[in-house]
Amino acid sequence: MRKTHVNASLYRLIYCSRNVIGRVMPGATVDDELRTILAVARRRNKSDGITGALLFTASGFAQVLEGPRETVEVTFERITADPRHAGVTVLSFTPTERRSFPDWSMAFTAQAAKGKPDPLEHLLADATFAGPRATTGSDVLRLLEKVVQREDAWIAA
Ligand SMILES: Cc1cc2nc3c(=O)[nH]c(=O)nc-3n(C[C@H](O)[C@H](O)[C@H](O)COP(=O)(O)O)c2cc1C
Repeated sequence: MRKTHVNASLYRLIYCSRNVIGRVMPGATVDDELRTILAVARRRNKSDGITGALLFTASGFAQVLEGPRETVEVTFERITADPRHAGVTVLSFTPTERRSFPDWSMAFTAQAAKGKPDPLEHLLADATFAGPRATTGSDVLRLLEKVVQREDAWIAA
């Protein structure tokens, strides 16, 4: 008989939020803040066994965090308390068999910076809309997988 092995401790959390860096930190450049966020995130995620991806656009952030359940929870609590974003909305938090971004302590892409349509605009608008168009975690996961895999995605070193 074939058994399906589910790694009980591996979880994936997906959320989106609005970027308020310009409002709460006048004088700070968004670019500098993003670099700081990314450097801290990568250092801590690496030692915590967390992988994932972060998309930044003119509208806000969408992030996937995957790792041991408790570690993901603790990390997300810290992220939620961060004043650089607002309206943090959890789209899904579920067990998973495999990581979607196994090679990234935090992949990063800033699609809107390249003059393309902002993919987060409608996702953020629909995230709090409990109707048939409501944004789901799979929408965000698909989007991030697509952008991170695309050759022209900007993934800072
Ligand atoms: C959009 C966004 C994403 C973030 N992602 C992470 C992350 O993946 N891992 C992490 O440790 N911190 C992340 N941070 C930074 C945390 O909010 C926090 O500043 C950092 O973990 C240091 O926390 P501490 O000052 O309480 O030690 C993120 C912040 C923002 C605004």
